[in-house]
Amino acid sequence: MSDAREPSANPPRGENPASGRRSEQRNTASDAREQSAGTKWWRDAVVYETYVRSFADGNGDGVGDLPGIRSRLPYLRDLGVDALWLTPFYTSPMVDHGYDVADYRDVDPLFGTLEDFDALLTEAHRLGLRVIIDVVPNHTSSRHPWFQDALAAAAGSSARERYVFRAAAPDDPAPPNNWTSAFGGPAWSRLEGPDGRPGDWYLHLFAPEQPDLNWRNTEVRREFEEILRFWLDRGADGFRVDVAMGLFKAQGLPDTTHPVHHPSQEGFRESPIWGQPEVHDIYRRWRQILDSFRGQRMAVAEAWTAGPEDLARYVRSDELHQAFNFSWLKAPWSAAAFREVIDDSLAATSLVGATTTWVLSSHDAPRHVTRYGGGSLGLRRARAALLTTLALPGSAYLYQGEELGLPEVTDLPEEALQDPIWRRSGYTQRGRDGCRVPIPWSGARPPYGFSLDGTRPWLPMPEDWGELSVAAQDRDPDSTLSFYRRALRIRREHPALGDGTLRWLEAPKDTLVFARDPGLVCVLNCGENPVRLPDHRRVLLASSPLDGDRLSGNGAVWLAM
Ligand code: NOJ
Repeated sequence: MSDAREPSANPPRGENPASGRRSEQRNTASDAREQSAGTKWWRDAVVYETYVRSFADGNGDGVGDLPGIRSRLPYLRDLGVDALWLTPFYTSPMVDHGYDVADYRDVDPLFGTLEDFDALLTEAHRLGLRVIIDVVPNHTSSRHPWFQDALAAAAGSSARERYVFRAAAPDDPAPPNNWTSAFGGPAWSRLEGPDGRPGDWYLHLFAPEQPDLNWRNTEVRREFEEILRFWLDRGADGFRVDVAMGLFKAQGLPDTTHPVHHPSQEGFRESPIWGQPEVHDIYRRWRQILDSFRGQRMAVAEAWTAGPEDLARYVRSDELHQAFNFSWLKAPWSAAAFREVIDDSLAATSLVGATTTWVLSSHDAPRHVTRYGGGSLGLRRARAALLTTLALPGSAYLYQGEELGLPEVTDLPEEALQDPIWRRSGYTQRGRDGCRVPIPWSGARPPYGFSLDGTRPWLPMPEDWGELSVAAQDRDPDSTLSFYRRALRIRREHPALGDGTLRWLEAPKDTLVFARDPGLVCVLNCGENPVRLPDHRRVLLASSPLDGDRLSGNGAVWLAM
């Protein structure tokens, strides 16, 4: 167990001064030596993803914001997480809810001000919570001054070199290649030429309002180094790197025969769009920048890859510190599937000396209560999955609301849907709004304390979420919230949990049994029938009530040996 969890050793509580003392943020050579000797906090951290617009609304406009998050920090401390990750809060037209950044060095008025960010960071650090923030390097907003300059500039100008523009004959209607956007439709949009006829094309792997940057351009690379420094100077503990595998596209932009998004296991490796080798040079450089700051700053990659081995390239010792392990999130409810993901993930990350991150849900995927079957079965499995996740070696990322057992909201009215996927798919795919519904804090009716009473939240909240609210679960020892708190407390205190290795033990059919030394065994029963528990000293925590020495179906337990 990492000693970085001990209050006195947690840099936010001392060594990592909050904003306002910027000159003290940079590392000296002796700091660097000290840092490399100690345990790295991220290796076994539990990080809580805060989807900023849906967590807590401080000013009553129906949209979550930074002051709202700040007011709820004690809740996160009491939950027992080590850090929070804030999704983008930068100036943005909000076409993709902030993943379209117009100013990387400021806070959008919808979410607050830079002072609000500083205050949030200071308070989080005071409470012993680290804060990592999103960086969005693959694309900017089309309202970013660079893209506005590119639009105003002539074809072939240096302003256009920062993006991926391609010339075309006005009477040729074909885009430069066959790539499609992750949100549906072509990945190219066309400008009007000076003569009013069709002009140059520009690339956007996501919405047309998110033009892709050209990472072969030196100015782009320098600008992002400065953006990292800007937030590190303010005291941010690290970054979550959006679309980390996308920055470079193969030279010549050849047609692809492979899926353009949602990497499948086949074909992804040969894709001209994703995972080009040049991205690793960027992360080597970013690592040097992160290491030059005091207080163990880190970065986690959102990288979709062909498998764990490719993912491990992003976390080689001179690159990023972590990468989301989406294969855990994608695995079906099956002991065999889980075991395969665990073995492959641990083998791949251990080759490069990194730890694995375990992720069950995020703002981009249907919530796991629903993925695992929904209703009471889905919740039962979700609780069992949490115990398994927190028992695995490495770090875990929780998504806001999973500690309340929130399900995916599948019946949002069509007129309420906001994800660009809905419109771009020609109204055939509902998109990701169902996992982004605001958090119910208290009360019997929407907005359940998320916003001021009577305010309409930016997405409608279900009428039956009163029982799921934080207030309703807070004092109920059997609630999912209490279960999460207990699990996180034990994980923090038990010497076997966190970083390290696991040992597989003999297991009945549809069941996983593994040991974490010293003295803890985790049993996950993915089947329907009860299984007999191995001999043990004591039950530390069970996801559902035990029947004597039997664990019922769709349950998990931690045993002290
Ligand atoms: C991944 C983010 O998680 C997602 O929400 C966003 O739409 C895309 N990247 C594009 O930035």
